[in-house]
Amino acid sequence: MIILTGDRPTGRLHLGHYVGSLISRLDYQNSKDCELFIMIADLQALTDNSHNPQKIITSVHDVTLDYLSVGIDPNKTNICIQSQIPAIYELPMFFSNLVTISRLERNPTLKSEIKQKNFNESVPVGFFTYPISQAADILAFNSPIIPVGEDQLPVIEQTREIARSFNRTYNTALFVEPKGIVPKNEKSRRLIGIDGNSKMSKSLNNGIYLSDTKEKVTKKVMSMYTDPNHINISDPGKIEGNVVFYYLDVFSNDSHFDKYLPDYKNLDELKKHYQNGGLGDVKIKRFLINILEELLEPIREKRKYYEANPQIVKEILEKGTKEAVEISNQILVKAKKIIGLNYFN
Ligand code: TRP
Repeated sequence: MIILTGDRPTGRLHLGHYVGSLISRLDYQNSKDCELFIMIADLQALTDNSHNPQKIITSVHDVTLDYLSVGIDPNKTNICIQSQIPAIYELPMFFSNLVTISRLERNPTLKSEIKQKNFNESVPVGFFTYPISQAADILAFNSPIIPVGEDQLPVIEQTREIARSFNRTYNTALFVEPKGIVPKNEKSRRLIGIDGNSKMSKSLNNGIYLSDTKEKVTKKVMSMYTDPNHINISDPGKIEGNVVFYYLDVFSNDSHFDKYLPDYKNLDELKKHYQNGGLGDVKIKRFLINILEELLEPIREKRKYYEANPQIVKEILEKGTKEAVEISNQILVKAKKIIGLNYFN
C-alpha cells in the first residue's frame, strides 16, 4: 500500500511538526506493508509566494535535511519534489472541470487561509485552486490513507469528492477515496508555541526548531510561559496553561525521571509538588531541556552528516522523485485513456 503525505516548504520544521507528523511517518516507514512517499509541495508553496521562489527553493533543501535528520530513511521512503512530477500538472486540468467555484469557496481550510494571508480581494487563482492540485498529489498515488494535520481534513474531503466525481462521470473505479489520518493525542496534534498563546508556528515566532542549537533551545525553554502568579518557589503553581508542563505531557516519560530527576517517580508526582508549592520554575525547565536535548542532539548529528554531503542529498531527492514520476504517470495514463484522450495509442 502506498501512503502519501506532504508539506509546503515555507521554512524549517519545528517540534510541532515532529510530534504532529514526523513521528507517525517514521512508524509508517517502518511498517512492512507500506511504501511511504513524502512530497515536498513546492508548487503549492509558490501559490502564495510567486514573487519569492528563492525562499521556497531554500526551504526544499532545509525540509529535506529535517526529514533525513529525524530518521526518514531514503532506502525505505521516497522523498519527492512536487514540481518535478508531470502528472501533478496534468491531472488538475481534468479535476478542475469537476469542481465548482462555490464548492471551493466553501472549503473551510481555504477560507481560513485566505483570511489569514490577507489577500483581501486579490486571491491568486493558483492559490484558490490549490485543493484541486492537492487532490492530484494524492490521487496520482491512489494512497488510501493520508496522514495530515487536522486543518487539512477539509482538503482531503474535497479530494474524496473529486475522486467520486471522476469515477462517476467516466464510469470507472480508477480513483480510491482517501481517508485523512490525524495524530491520536490531542496535545500532539497542535503543539502550542513557547509563548503558550497558540499553535507553534513560524509566523508567530514561537517555535523550537529541529535545527536549533543547544544554546537556542535552552534560551527558548528558559523563556517559556509558566504561571505568572508563581513568584516565590514556595508559592503553589498552576499546571493549566503552563507551557513547561504541557511540553512535559507531550515529551516526557518515566525513564526521563530516572535519568534526570530521580527525586520524582513520574510526571504526576512532579505536578503535585508544583501545585502544592516548593518547586521552582528553573528546576522544571532544566528537566525539560534535558529531555528535549536527548531528542534533538542525535537529530543535529545526523543533519551535520547530510549538510556535509550535499551530493548525497541531491541523489536521494532525485531517486525519490523518479519513483514518484513513474507511479503517478501510470495513473495519469489510465485517467487519460478512460476519458478517451489516448489519440496516439
Ligand atoms: N497542504 C499541505 C499542508 O499545508 C501540504 C500538502 C501538499 C499535502 N500536498 C499534499 C499533504 C498531499 C498531504 C498530501 O500541510
